[in-house]
Amino acid sequence: MQLTDRHVVVTGAAGGIGSAIARRFHAEGARVVLSDLHGAHAVSSELPGSISVAADIGTEAGNVALIDAAEEAFGPVDLFFANAGVGMGTDPMDAEGIWELSFAVNVHAHRWAARRLLPGWLERGEGYFCSTASAAGLLAQIGSAPYSVTKHAAVAFAEWMSITYGGRGLKVSCLCPQGVNTAMIHQEDQLADGGDIVRHVGTILEPADVAEVVLQAITDERFLILPHPEVADYLALKGSQTERWLGGMRKLQRQVLGY
Ligand SMILES: NC(=O)c1ccc[n+]([C@@H]2O[C@H](COP(=O)([O-])OP(=O)(O)OC[C@H]3O[C@@H](n4cnc5c(N)ncnc54)[C@H](O)[C@@H]3O)[C@@H](O)[C@H]2O)c1
Repeated sequence: MQLTDRHVVVTGAAGGIGSAIARRFHAEGARVVLSDLHGAHAVSSELPGSISVAADIGTEAGNVALIDAAEEAFGPVDLFFANAGVGMGTDPMDAEGIWELSFAVNVHAHRWAARRLLPGWLERGEGYFCSTASAAGLLAQIGSAPYSVTKHAAVAFAEWMSITYGGRGLKVSCLCPQGVNTAMIHQEDQLADGGDIVRHVGTILEPADVAEVVLQAITDERFLILPHPEVADYLALKGSQTERWLGGMRKLQRQVLGY
């Protein structure tokens, strides 16, 4: 999809990967709606013609209100980029609220947005749904079960959408980065051990570099977006030599986290 004059909604756009994607799409000539929990006014004010919408996408009502506001401003949504996410929690003993919020923001938000958008997209015979999952959704997030599990679910939902509606005009992509230099990997209180792993393993990319890879993939209408190409090799190893891959992950966990 060429982005010129396209109506694009990006969630989690107040900073990090979402703001970089919004900026890059805006530079391509898209009409951009930037959304975040408390809006994305600071970024939007730098992008003429864009708007900022405050919405809690961790609820169905928040997703519906966001898409209603976007349609009111710019008409039908061409591309919805479900990028907002939370990285939190450690293991099955975490409080229920951590698991619930992880599922709401990292998984259900994608489903709620799709529920609101799909009827219009299928009627028009076109639409584009892109989600930000993570390399953790293809491999695993050492140190965080809630993040690992919900990002796998996000990848599964995107795959299912592509399989089910790909023949009816819907385009689907799924962004699966490893470490990116954003607030998420520096929030000790949130991703805890998972954040330690991300900071110590692999290349940390800048959000603007990720946005460049995303733009190319959306232009090419490619499903899997891997800003860290080595993730494809790890995925192949996981698929072909699962025991070896699990052993390597345990070793990495011992080296970085000491357990
Ligand atoms: N940074 C990384 O290393 C990395 C790696 C892989 C995937 N990701 C994913 O990239 C996406 C963007 O994260 P980021 O790294 O830019 O971190 P970030 O913390 O800068 O961005 C996440 C954004 O989501 C917003 N958000 C959270 N809950 C929300 C809610 N209920 N309603 C509306 N907005 C909400 C936050 O306010 C924040 O602006 C996330 O889905 C994250 O899981 C990040």
